[in-house]
Amino acid sequence: MSLPNHLLGLKTCTAEQIGEILERASFFRKCIDENTSLRKFKKSINVINLFFENSTRTRISFELAEKMLGMNSLNFTNEGSSVSKGESLLDTIKNLNSMRFDFYVIRHSVPGVPKLISEIVSGIVINAGDGAAEHPTQGLLDILTLQKVFSKINGLKVCIVGDISHSRVAMSNIFGLNKLGANVSVCGPCSFIPKEIEALGVRIYYDIDEAIRENDALNVLRVQLERDAGNQLPSLQEYHKFYGVTMNRLRLNPKIKILHPGPMNINVEIDYEASVSKNTVIFDQVTNGLAVKLAIFDMYTSKETGS
Ligand code: CP
Repeated sequence: MSLPNHLLGLKTCTAEQIGEILERASFFRKCIDENTSLRKFKKSINVINLFFENSTRTRISFELAEKMLGMNSLNFTNEGSSVSKGESLLDTIKNLNSMRFDFYVIRHSVPGVPKLISEIVSGIVINAGDGAAEHPTQGLLDILTLQKVFSKINGLKVCIVGDISHSRVAMSNIFGLNKLGANVSVCGPCSFIPKEIEALGVRIYYDIDEAIRENDALNVLRVQLERDAGNQLPSLQEYHKFYGVTMNRLRLNPKIKILHPGPMNINVEIDYEASVSKNTVIFDQVTNGLAVKLAIFDMYTSKETGS
């Protein structure tokens, strides 16, 4: 089976492609846990990480995976580049393409930028998050985390809670989980739920207590204050009161697992006690994120592409 030419989103991956990445990521998760040296896997592969938006988990885990596999890894940010002198995105990419990188890992605030870049460069593009469109590696690491906890995805009840309208994480989770047979729902105030969301095959909850009672896992999203989400709410305190994940609420379903892609707004979408409770798998998600990046690089450099 072949991977897509570029990893732009989970909407354009098949269930088989997602399953194969998850299987390879499980192998690398074992390597991470057993401290296996991986440098033998790859040589002379040049990667550029283009982060036009801030990131901790995604950027560092890509960089670490690249270094663990022995790739030549370079970083690009707006500051310190000629973008700050006014050079356009298109010219920037054309210049980088002249250096013939094998991989372009891209995060950008504008949806569709990774696809645009994939049409210009000769290397493989991996979307590290584009606006509110998709964040495929986050979707994959979330699904891998659920698979490890519940040993299956088919039939699993997963509710994505919070700021759905600004969330690329929600989109990649919905596309990926639906393809693997999960029952996906969303929960939040009307202002956070896009009108067309039910067409993607998800149920809507407006009551978080009901969502907690009826689901196996919650993926709790950050209120994206930098994208003006705060202005879609009466107040952050009220949001916490009606939608915040708290220990009191978790008692409604003591077995429920809590995911959060990070970074967390403590005491907004989740309180501190809930974020460190036995219900959460938040830091396991981060380790699985590293395994997913190792798997993606390994598969793209080992296997045929094209679909
Ligand atoms: N989950 C996620 O994308 O986090 P970062 O923005 O820190 O990469």
